Amino acid sequence: MKRAVVLAALLAVGCSENSEIDVPRDIARKAPATDSYLRPLGAAVATGAAGDDDGYLRAFVAGFTSLTPENAMKWEVIHPELGEFDFEQADELVALARRTGKRVRGHPLVWDGQLPDWVTEGDWGPRELAAVLRRHVRAVVGRYRGRVEEWDVVNEPLAADGGWKQSVFFNVLGPKYVEIAFRAAHDADPDAHLFLNEIGTEHPGPKSEAVLRLAGELVRRGVPIHGVGYETHTTVLDFPRKRYLATQFATLASAGLGAAVTEMDVTIPPEGAPPQALALQARAYGEAARACAEAANCTGLTVWGVTDEYSWRGADQRPLAFDPDGRPKPAFAAIVQALARRR
Ligand code: G3I
Repeated sequence: MKRAVVLAALLAVGCSENSEIDVPRDIARKAPATDSYLRPLGAAVATGAAGDDDGYLRAFVAGFTSLTPENAMKWEVIHPELGEFDFEQADELVALARRTGKRVRGHPLVWDGQLPDWVTEGDWGPRELAAVLRRHVRAVVGRYRGRVEEWDVVNEPLAADGGWKQSVFFNVLGPKYVEIAFRAAHDADPDAHLFLNEIGTEHPGPKSEAVLRLAGELVRRGVPIHGVGYETHTTVLDFPRKRYLATQFATLASAGLGAAVTEMDVTIPPEGAPPQALALQARAYGEAARACAEAANCTGLTVWGVTDEYSWRGADQRPLAFDPDGRPKPAFAAIVQALARRR
């Protein structure tokens, strides 16, 4: 009887008893020490694949030292109805990280992607949406206080031309939504590192300039921001060189900010792939990994997925560091070589 009462109490306050992703002892033993690499080496992890695919789980546990929930912390999953939170998937992944000694990057607190209808179809006034935004950020960051080291607080706020992206948050609150989110996250966990995360900034252009301007403006306004994430979704045909990433990281360092490669994948076109495509892919990952290893303010490199099989870009694009069966590719060897600690 007592156990049922406790479980009911836990459920009532939104804490579900953790369903766990089972990590067999022989897999857990292969987990590298957190400081195995010069920088945290992360992967985006999907609950389904981690729970169902042994090769995926082995590759993740043995190869990486950081975990980013690929989808588990997005509003459509974690806040499906106004005021109703579902932490089950996020709890599973944060528990997996703790059991296997991984750092956690939380992702994303605020994004206009994968929002539930109650957000996108709401008839919001500024005060009301600001209150919903603050409550969401405080509830999610507060739950994982001390267990998530770095957060993507605001994800992809900019349009391709460097202007503001039209989203429900921007349209109702204006640019202020960014500051609201960062301050709420800092209130909920003052020790967490808070990042602005952006896509399409891995080459020179208006968006790359705009993300640096925005970050600098937030610093000037005393907003608690600690770094900028470069997603780096790229291809073997146009991947960023170390030199470019190094200049971006150095600019951020001069503003007292950190940097991270947060979602790297490097597609190989199924048709007409260049010769030595896997070696070229390895070079792409090596360039970014060396840029991070050589920049004191780079807080890590995360690959956006574990095995090619489950990549959002399609298995046929072969974008990740492990093949569909969880075997390491030349890309993984290039990353490890760049991030290896020189004994
Ligand atoms: O959960 C549903 C499932 O119930 C349904 O059966 C299935 C088939 O329709 O869809 C599932 O939802 C999918 C979701 O991933 C979870 O797997 C969505 O269709 C699919 O669109 C969604 O894709 C995610 C994508 O963001 C959405 O834009 C990718 O997995 C995820 O890797 C990707 O990640 C984003 C980062 O969070 C932010 N940066 C860009 C990056 C790529 O968009």
